[in-house]
Parts: sequence; C-alpha cells; structure tokens
Amino acid sequence: MNKTPVTRYNNIAISLHWLMAFLIVGMLVVGKVMVSLDDNSTLRFTLTQWHKTFGVLILLLSVCRLLWRVTHRAPSHPDNAPAWEHFAANASHILLYALLFIAPITGWMLVSVSPLNIDTYLFNVIPWPHLPWLTEIVDKTSAEARFAQFHEIATGALIALLLLHVAAALKHHLINKDTVLTRMMPTRDARTGQTMLGMAFSIALGCIVAVIGYATLKPSAPDMQAGNSAVRAIATVMGEATTISFSDSSVTASLNPDSAQSSQLSAIVNTSSATSDNMQVQGSLPDADWFNVAAHPQATFEATQIDSNAENVFNIAGILTIKGIDHPQEFELKIIDENGQKMATGEFIVDRAAYQLGLDSQPTGDYVDINVTIAFEFTITQ
Ligand code: HEM
Ligand code: HEM
Repeated sequence: MNKTPVTRYNNIAISLHWLMAFLIVGMLVVGKVMVSLDDNSTLRFTLTQWHKTFGVLILLLSVCRLLWRVTHRAPSHPDNAPAWEHFAANASHILLYALLFIAPITGWMLVSVSPLNIDTYLFNVIPWPHLPWLTEIVDKTSAEARFAQFHEIATGALIALLLLHVAAALKHHLINKDTVLTRMMPTRDARTGQTMLGMAFSIALGCIVAVIGYATLKPSAPDMQAGNSAVRAIATVMGEATTISFSDSSVTASLNPDSAQSSQLSAIVNTSSATSDNMQVQGSLPDADWFNVAAHPQATFEATQIDSNAENVFNIAGILTIKGIDHPQEFELKIIDENGQKMATGEFIVDRAAYQLGLDSQPTGDYVDINVTIAFEFTITQ
C-alpha cells in the first residue's frame, strides 16, 4: 500500500461532500417546512414528492460516497490534536456516514407503509419501488406513524451532528488555524475547476431533463366519471334527525384533479322518489307546500366552478334549483376509497325557507328546523 501521507481529500470526495451537504441542508429545511403545512394542502403534496426524489438521490450518492471511502485513504487528523479529538472526529464521521443511510432509508420505509400508498416517481418520471416486505404490513396507519417518528429522530440526529461538525470545522480553521477545513475545500487548480464545472453542468442537465420529463411524461390523471348515486336530506323534526332518501337521482360528472377547472358536475333528483321512516313526513313531501312534485318533479344542481387545492378534494360552486327556485350553493366533494371502490361524497346545508319548502305549514323552525343537510355520494369509474 502507498504509505505517502494523504494531505487532502481528492476532487471526487470534495465534490461529493459539498454536493451532498448542499442537498441535505435543503432536504432538512424542506422536510421541516413540509410537515408544518396543512395535511391536505397541495403544496405539502408537491414538496413531499420532490423530497422523496432528492431523498432517494441522496441515498444513491451515499452508496457512491461509501464506495469511495472504503477504497481510498482519508487525510488523518492533525498529529498534535489530543486523543479525544481523534476519537471524536472518527466517531462523528462514522455516525455521519451511518445517518447518510439511516435518514433516507427511514423515509423510504415511511412512504412504503403509507395507507395512502402514493407511488414514488423520481423527477416525476422514473418509478421507484416501495420496500416490498413493508407493503405486506396490515396496520399501515400505526406503522406509518412509527416510521415517521424514526425518520424525524434520524433527521434530528443529523441536524445535531451537523451543527457539531460545522462547529468543529470552524474551530480547526479559526482557532487551531490548521488545514482541516481547507483540505476539504476545492482548490483553484484546473482539475478541480473542471470537476466542479462538470458537476454544475451535470446538475443543470439533470434539472432540465427532470423538467422536460415532468412536462411530457407525467402520467396525467384520468377523468373520473360518476356512476350510481344516492342523495339524502337530513331534516331536524321536533329535535330528531329525520332522513329523507331519494331513490331516484342521477349524477353526470367528469372530474379531473389535473385540470379541475375543466371538470363538470351536474345532478338531477326526482322529488317524487323521496321516502322517510317518518310516515308523516313522507306523506306531506309531495304536497304543494313542500316539494310540489306535480309542478316541480325535479331538483337539480349544476356546477359553475370547480377547483381543487388538495389531493382528492374538489371545491364545487354552482346553482341548486328546488321548486324552480335558483340559489348559489358551494360544497366540498371528497373522493374516498371504500373497499377498493372509489366514491365521491359531500354534504351541504340548505335554508328551506329560501326554497319555500313548508312555509305554509311550518313557517318557523319550531317543529322542522329551517336548516336541512343534503348529503350525497356517487361511485366513480375511471
Ligand atoms: C437524507 C435524506 C433526507 C432528509 C435529510 C430528510 C429530512 C426530513 C425532515 C427533516 C422531515 C421532517 C420530519 C419531522 O419533523 O417530522 C422529513 C419528513 C419526511 N420525509 Fe424525509 N428526509 C430525507 C429522505 C427522505 C426519503 C428518501 C423519503 C422517501 C422516499 C422521505 C420521505 C419523507 C416524508 C414522507 C416525510 C413527511 C413525514 C410526515 O408527514 O410526518 N424523506 N424528512
Ligand atoms: C449535511 C451536511 C454534511 C455532511 C453529511 C457531512 C459529512 C462529512 C463526512 C462523513 C466527512 C468525513 C469524510 C471522510 O472521511 O470520508 C466530512 C468531512 C468534512 N466536512 Fe462535512 N459534512 C457536511 C457538511 C459540512 C459543512 C457545512 C462543512 C463546513 C463547515 C463541513 C466540513 C467538513 C470538513 C472540513 C471535513 C474534513 C474533516 C477532516 O478532514 O477531518 N461539512 N463531512
């Protein structure tokens, strides 16, 4: 083995050290910002997808870096430093190496068990698998919480060790005035210049490929079409929640999270199909004072604006027509998974007085509350 003392890190080690330092600090900041955002926010979703991409990139770079380390000698700690410092430097470097693997792997474990089961696409293009043996876990919610905690502890340890690492590097440079910091710094010689330029070029190229890939290859979400629907009105009659079910309703919808604005939704409810466990209520519903079924056999909803700022949630605004009376109505529509079947659900409150429902027989809310909840659900086909 070549016994010439190594005085500097070589260009590959320096390039990897600073590229990874830059990426990891970014990841720590993005990670903390991400978890401080609302669970349903689109920004949190987008940041998490990029966090996963760069996290996996760090894991791959860590493998390269470990390979470099086991095949090369690193400069030794200054001879005149006390023994405890030799030990602390070695121990902290070993721990940093360990965390370069533990931090991303705990993140990977966390997304592999997530009950949301969101696939990972590096740069939105290259599929990255979940850890296979973890996807078998039955209680995913508690496993996710556990791994999220491991990830938080690992990245917390990384932050603490990094602070110590930077303090030590600065102490060597400013107080001991030795070469510990400068030997990890790029020099101005031509070869280092070329390495750095090469790296900057590769990163820029990687970003361009990622952006082009994102724009062209990102699988766009298919339209979701409405299937069978169910509509209920829940009225409070003498203090008791009384459900009125409409057995005949139809929903026409085309919902697309990628272009919510071009989504459509309309619904028709046949008012004569209303039934209730409360026979008195059921008996009076077709009357002129209530739905006036003879003159207005249908109640309708027509969406005028659809937005989506969270995954699987659409904000719908439109016109609700009951008894021929139009009023604007807004509500949140959520896409949920029920035993493998996608369903859209939502509810909103209407003011029955605004639609002249029961104003002759129940003009006040004493017996039948003025606010009535309308709840709906329909199956989704893609
Ligand atoms: C060195 C690489 C990584 C660093 C430094 C890092 C850092 C962080 C940090 C600081 C947080 C916030 C933790 C908290 O305070 O709760 C976080 C959260 C998260 N990380 Fe990472 N991460 C890395 C790699 C990964 C990888 C590879 C994945 C997945 C493939 C991942 C997935 C996640 C997810 C899903 C969360 C959100 C957890 C939650 O909602 O509670 N991370 N990360
Ligand atoms: C997350 C960011 C960082 C990580 C994970 C990290 C990790 C490491 C590791 C594992 C080594 C040992 C290299 C080896 O022997 O193979 C090292 C060396 C070094 N790092 Fe960092 N580092 C980070 C950020 C920084 C920063 C911000 C500074 C600047 C103040 C710095 C200064 C140094 C110096 C001067 C050395 C050489 C130490 C010596 O020669 O004994 N590092 N770093």
